[in-house]
Amino acid sequence: MRRGEKREVYLDNAATTWPKPEQVYLATDRFAREVGGNPGRSGHRRALDSGREVLRCREALASLLGVSDPSRIVFTKNATEALNLVLQGRLRQGGHVVITSVEHNSVWRPVRALMETGVECSIAPCAPDGTLDPSEVAALVREDTRLIACTHASNVLGSLLPVEEIARIAAEYDIPLLVDAAQTAGRYPIHVEGMGIQYLAFTGHKELFGPQGTGGLYVAPGWEVEPLIYGGTGSLSESAEQPGFLPDRYESGTLNAWGLAGLRAGVEFVATRGVEKIRDHEKALTERLLEGLESLGKAVIYGPRRWVERIGVVSFNLEGISSSELAYLLDEEYGICVRSGLHCSPLAHNTAGTLRQGTVRVSFSLMNTLEDVDYLLGALEEIAGSL
Ligand SMILES: Cc1ncc(COP(=O)(O)O)c(C=O)c1O
Repeated sequence: MRRGEKREVYLDNAATTWPKPEQVYLATDRFAREVGGNPGRSGHRRALDSGREVLRCREALASLLGVSDPSRIVFTKNATEALNLVLQGRLRQGGHVVITSVEHNSVWRPVRALMETGVECSIAPCAPDGTLDPSEVAALVREDTRLIACTHASNVLGSLLPVEEIARIAAEYDIPLLVDAAQTAGRYPIHVEGMGIQYLAFTGHKELFGPQGTGGLYVAPGWEVEPLIYGGTGSLSESAEQPGFLPDRYESGTLNAWGLAGLRAGVEFVATRGVEKIRDHEKALTERLLEGLESLGKAVIYGPRRWVERIGVVSFNLEGISSSELAYLLDEEYGICVRSGLHCSPLAHNTAGTLRQGTVRVSFSLMNTLEDVDYLLGALEEIAGSL
């Protein structure tokens, strides 16, 4: 390959997936043009149709994530809001929380803010490749621990964390577990009830292929917390009190129904393709990338090597060039979109030893091909050769 042979290759799916499946665009457009009412707010046909669309999205997610009662899934505008709902709701009164050393800022910043109000936090140390021995979590549990929060997979290192083992530890102490599934929902099998998870936060716009501005939270029965926001729900309007039942308790204000129509199409696309098949596809891409990077000789690769310990998110650096310069060159000269820097997770970079330089991050979706990987490797070889 020579410079100038430029095509567009999108490899920033951990930030948001693109392109979306055709049916996602169509479903959003159809909802906007043909449905249009406010879900749960009026009794006319458009409002009822809109409410049905939202319910179908909830049902599709419940089926994909192993939730028997779809009303336990509440919609938020992204994973960050879902994580805040639980962190603030559970820790507002104080207490102790255990998190891990690869959490995203969407966990770390609310926890830091809560620490200003007296909450105490212990951080379970992951290995430099982002993997975690669950006994590190068990060792930090205290009498006043009110929550364990753990990402399912690191958005920097691609490492999978042992959430099932951590769920067993949490159950032993009767502490609820909050799992951040922003990077795994849609690309890694999740059965919330089978795994014993009390709160699962997910985002709609990554591997579930929905539009931006969609996301949600699963809340297990008996583990409800105070809402993050209060307001109109279309239900019990005569009462000044927020409804106690789900999903209304946590869904004040008009939902992003256009987005949820698209999210349903995305979730159905994932279900039809099959999460295991999606994972197999990402395995082929990731292994090709890892082998190619190793044979370049000039790449430092972070995160676990073995597929069973990871997802299709790969961080690396090339000797002799900064991560931001490399990402810029890939975009400008080859039309390749990757992300550089700290990826909103200084904790993970501290764990990997890359806080100063950051990393280049390549992240796949089902839409990528082996040709995309080869094109990237060709570009990296040229750049490495010219340094
Ligand atoms: C692990 C992890 N958690 C949370 C988030 C936040 O997701 P959102 O921006 O959709 O709120 C991200 C986004 O990159 C993430 O990778």
